[in-house]
Amino acid sequence: MNESKDSNGEFLLRAEGLLKNYHIGKKTIEVLHGVDFELGAEDFVAIHGASGAGKSTLLHVLGGLDTPDSGDVWFKGQSFRSLRGSRLSRFRNDEIGFIFQAYHLFPEFSALENVCLPGRIARHDPSRVAESATQLLELVGLKDRMDHRPYELSGGEQQRVAIARALINSPSLILADEPTGNLDSVTGKEVTALLEQLRRELSIALVLATHDLTIGDRADRVIHLVDGKIQSEAAASL
Ligand SMILES: Nc1ncnc2c1ncn2[C@@H]1O[C@H](COP(=O)(O)OP(=O)(O)OP(=O)(O)O)[C@@H](O)[C@H]1O
Ligand SMILES: [Mg+2]
Repeated sequence: MNESKDSNGEFLLRAEGLLKNYHIGKKTIEVLHGVDFELGAEDFVAIHGASGAGKSTLLHVLGGLDTPDSGDVWFKGQSFRSLRGSRLSRFRNDEIGFIFQAYHLFPEFSALENVCLPGRIARHDPSRVAESATQLLELVGLKDRMDHRPYELSGGEQQRVAIARALINSPSLILADEPTGNLDSVTGKEVTALLEQLRRELSIALVLATHDLTIGDRADRVIHLVDGKIQSEAAASL
């Protein structure tokens, strides 16, 4: 695991003892049961597991979108538990790009405006944000679609917009939850190849939850979530 550490011997992200339960009425759903996880600055980790195994829950906790019942996540040495409310949101917006299965684009905004959004939230200079967003949309092959609204784009194009949006604040980590789940297999492969190419070129860590076992072949590590625990970690054959 030493190769996962940066030059200071620190992991980009470290999670320890994550427990997460959901409560519905009197029923408790135990989702994460003591997950430990470490991620180096340029790692690509795939998370596999049956539907309901807790992949999305784990990604949300690793990204600070959700809080564990116990355990903590450290990102660049910063404990999420010690960051609250707006400080956590700001930290997350600067450091982590999220990509979701259903794209989560704002329907009333153009592709360009959607990509700009995290940069505007971070209060970066609007003209610089627009310039970066334009470059990113070119990079993901959407030069001629910048003014389209999401409903005027194909699924694959919408996910490319979401990838550009995830990159706008130059994050250190991308968390992708079934990013190809709504796409046909050819488009899904293209989107995965694009994501992988960009994260390699930009030296960004990637954690990707997927049912697609072939994506694991491209990852540095594959994690299997079973009964709320990491069952095995396999080094993928690159
Ligand atoms: N907000 C919630 N309230 C209650 N239970 C929830 C909530 N979110 C998820 N769960 C339950 O927690 C378990 C894990 O859900 P999660 O979405 O993390 O699974 P998953 O591995 O991502 O599944 P899939 O592959 O279908 O996306 C499931 O049994 C689900 O029903
Ligand atoms: Mg899920």
